[in-house]
Amino acid sequence: MTITFNVVLIIFQILLVLRYGEGYNLFGEAGQAYSIEIYIGRPIQKLNVIVDTGSTTLAIASYPRREHDKYFETNNSTTFEDSGMQIQAKYSQGNWVGRLVSDVVEIPSLSLPQVRANMAIITKSYKFFVNGSGWQGLLGLAYLPVGAWGDHVIVESWMDSLDARLQRPTSFELNLCGPQSVTNVTHYGNLRVLDIYSEIVSDIIFRTPILHKRWYEVGVLSIRVLTNKTEELIVNKNITTDAQNFEVDMCRKLNHQKSIVDSGTTNIRLPDALFRQVVDQLKKVVQVANTQYPSNIILDNFWDHAEAACWPEPQQWSLPWLAIDLLSAESDYQYYTLEIPPQNYMRVASAHNSSGESGTVSEFCYKLGLEAGGQETVLGYTAMEGFELLFNRSAGWIGFKTSDCGPKTRITGPYNVTHSITSSCQLITPKTDMAISIKAAQWALCVISIVAATVLIYLLAPCIKMLLVKPLPRSTQISMSQTALVDQDIT
Ligand SMILES: *[C@@H]1O[C@H](CO)[C@@H](O)[C@H](O)[C@H]1NC(C)=O
Ligand SMILES: *[C@@H]1O[C@H](CO)[C@@H](O)[C@H](O)[C@H]1NC(C)=O
Ligand SMILES: *[C@@H]1O[C@H](CO)[C@@H](O)[C@H](O)[C@H]1NC(C)=O
Ligand SMILES: *[C@@H]1O[C@H](CO)[C@@H](O)[C@H](O)[C@H]1NC(C)=O
Ligand SMILES: *[C@@H]1O[C@H](CO)[C@@H](O)[C@H](O)[C@H]1NC(C)=O
Ligand SMILES: *[C@@H]1O[C@H](CO)[C@@H](O)[C@H](O)[C@H]1NC(C)=O
Repeated sequence: MTITFNVVLIIFQILLVLRYGEGYNLFGEAGQAYSIEIYIGRPIQKLNVIVDTGSTTLAIASYPRREHDKYFETNNSTTFEDSGMQIQAKYSQGNWVGRLVSDVVEIPSLSLPQVRANMAIITKSYKFFVNGSGWQGLLGLAYLPVGAWGDHVIVESWMDSLDARLQRPTSFELNLCGPQSVTNVTHYGNLRVLDIYSEIVSDIIFRTPILHKRWYEVGVLSIRVLTNKTEELIVNKNITTDAQNFEVDMCRKLNHQKSIVDSGTTNIRLPDALFRQVVDQLKKVVQVANTQYPSNIILDNFWDHAEAACWPEPQQWSLPWLAIDLLSAESDYQYYTLEIPPQNYMRVASAHNSSGESGTVSEFCYKLGLEAGGQETVLGYTAMEGFELLFNRSAGWIGFKTSDCGPKTRITGPYNVTHSITSSCQLITPKTDMAISIKAAQWALCVISIVAATVLIYLLAPCIKMLLVKPLPRSTQISMSQTALVDQDIT
């Protein structure tokens, strides 16, 4: 009797702890990505890093950029190890140069063991850090081929180090919620790391396959303006689209170079022509609405030149929803649709409401969450807010479900089509466009590593097996990464 009671009590306590532990661990200022607190070195140094699914390497500032700016003081850490090797990385905006080092890393809000991980300490950067941003680096969560690079250097990611330490593959879940309220535009969210022992809530989730394990590359089939979803505004028949059919021409353009899911990017970035198309449709709807609500007029500069538009009051948008069609992981003849409300793409840029003796000064500014991006498609966090995304790294899919925080989004589908989506949208054709020089260099490096690693694996097969089941001594981490890479490219 008492035993049962005790068991019940313990279970109750565990549940209590689990509930309590569900707090949010990601925060960011308006227009900046979500960052998480991280402990590095011994004694620990507390830093904030952006949670970035668009890159792979943990990279940290190691020099003071301005007064009062935090940075990683390498001399203070007793566990710090410096390889002395130069590495660098280039992002769509900005770049940095640094050294490959390793130290003990822990993320206090995730109950995970601390791991010794490779990182880049940034010694020089260009247009990378943002003034007064509150973050000092990036935590890259993508795959090895797009890590920082250098001559004969492979930089293992924190996630790979974690997998090696736990000796099992992990997945992670991102739940991005957007601004706290109309007056506090600090956005918040949650990152969770899951493995086979995690309690997995079995909700229906829609899964999309990761087409190449480099960035999180997915098949985005179309981006549509859902005019029929906004009651008052359906006027022009020409601009309604057929919800059941995406255009083959559009999906080829969207994936011509690549389509990626990138929490480190703010906007939804579309190839130039498609950006025009979507924005023109939105403008048309707004022009019609303007005749009804002249006080809400939005100027062309807002749509065309990424200018902020401001009002004295926070805005309730009666604008169309956007639909994003994604290839389904269940079948090549199936897709589903993420539907996002105007609240997502009318991004809050700033909110001020201060009352003094001279009265109240208030200004609420918004920016368009869409931008033109040459040939690429990037689903930045504007497309992720209001959804819960599960990145199953080892199995190669991303699961979506609607979130219980942030904008009220919808997921519809699956919809069946009669032709193979991957072939009609040319999703698996070899990517000829390797013009981005850094990627080319990386691939050259990878090929060399693969050849080297294959020979090594053949010769060292017994040793590697042993290493896999024992905690890895530091010097073997690099070959560990290479085996992962070989596995992935050969299968
Ligand atoms: C590093 O150590 C020095 C001397 O103990 C201290 O003044 C400084 O604040 C430390 N820096 C950091 C980032 O902890
Ligand atoms: C950075 O911010 C500081 C104070 O917040 C300001 O004085 C400085 O001019 C800013 N620098 C740039 C490049 O914007
Ligand atoms: C906004 O919310 C964040 C997170 O809860 C909090 O730290 C910050 O102080 C708030 N800002 C204002 C101006 O209330
Ligand atoms: C702005 O502040 C004034 C005075 O404090 C308050 O009455 C008003 O409700 C606030 N507006 C918003 C949108 O919070
Ligand atoms: C990831 O996918 C594998 C294989 O489909 C599955 O066994 C595992 O449970 C998934 N992980 C999570 C966290 O869903
Ligand atoms: C779509 O196809 C699947 C099999 O691939 C089938 O089970 C399902 O019933 C179909 N759905 C519709 C709405 O036709």
